[in-house]
Amino acid sequence: MKDKIQEIRQQLKTDLNQVENANSLEEFRVKYTGKKGFITSLFKEMGKIPSEERPIAGKLINDLKEYFIERFEERKKQFGKPLSIEWIDLTLPGRKPPVASKHPLNQVFLEIKQIFAVLGFTVADGPEVETDYYNFEALNIPKLHPSRNMQDTLYITEDIVLRTHTSPVQIRVMQNQKPPVRIIAPGRVYRRDTPDASHSPFFHQVEGLCVDTGISFGDLKAVITTFAHNMFGTDINVRFRPSFFPFTEPSMEYDFNCIFCRGKGCKVCKQTGWIEISGAGMVDPNVFEAVNYDPDVYTGYAFGMGVDRIAMLKYGIDDIRLFFENDMRFLSQF
Ligand code: PHE
Repeated sequence: MKDKIQEIRQQLKTDLNQVENANSLEEFRVKYTGKKGFITSLFKEMGKIPSEERPIAGKLINDLKEYFIERFEERKKQFGKPLSIEWIDLTLPGRKPPVASKHPLNQVFLEIKQIFAVLGFTVADGPEVETDYYNFEALNIPKLHPSRNMQDTLYITEDIVLRTHTSPVQIRVMQNQKPPVRIIAPGRVYRRDTPDASHSPFFHQVEGLCVDTGISFGDLKAVITTFAHNMFGTDINVRFRPSFFPFTEPSMEYDFNCIFCRGKGCKVCKQTGWIEISGAGMVDPNVFEAVNYDPDVYTGYAFGMGVDRIAMLKYGIDDIRLFFENDMRFLSQF
């Protein structure tokens, strides 16, 4: 027993010299005082030795343990916590921070602005929290008029709303400048809607407005068709359908050939070959009157455009909510 203790003490000294960091110190601790450690087993063996030898053996083992604890504590001060927690490999290359990309909606906004810039349109801006006057009244939508029901509105107070479309920017621009006017107004709009794959309580539009002398419905059709060709390709046809908006007269809705089947008919366009984009029309004389433009001198057209819709078509996205969830797995694909 004595020899064995002596041997372990010798071994312990050698092992101690090998301890060079907190990790090997931990291995050292386990080797001697862990469950199956050398010193632990010595204590277990005490029961097997003759009782007259026991006191001496006990003392020797205790001495050894004390010796171990002193050395261990010394080293522990030196190394601190196991290095698996603290250790830094300075030779590793740095981690690259993720580089952001443009949100798909912003990419589409940018493309739309570029296409219209070539056609002579500048970019105008307006507030998302809007007054009832700009959002409705000046656009020839009086209070209690049934056409207000076309847009489920989020009211802040009785007179302040979250804008339901970008059309109020038309009024703000015309109040501030005399014709000729050629602007687009990109931005976010809000409607009380329950979110699903094709609805969101906020979405995006680009408004277009052109006012000058001698502007005709033909100009409007040409501009929308040019946009479709630039955005999706010259094989995409545009279809105009009669419709109603209080602020345009005559009004229409316009469709593009389905971007997936190029007009042949598929699941996305429900076999029609057409995808609805938005509304447009000639500026209503009542709107001109609200901004002090003379409707006998000037004519103009206005159009809307659903940006989320266009982005979904362009990138083959089947759920509008993906744009707003900030899921990196989605966003990093663009
Ligand atoms: N503001 C209309 C909408 O949101 C679209 C539109 C814009 C219609 C301009 C005509 C002229 O539905």
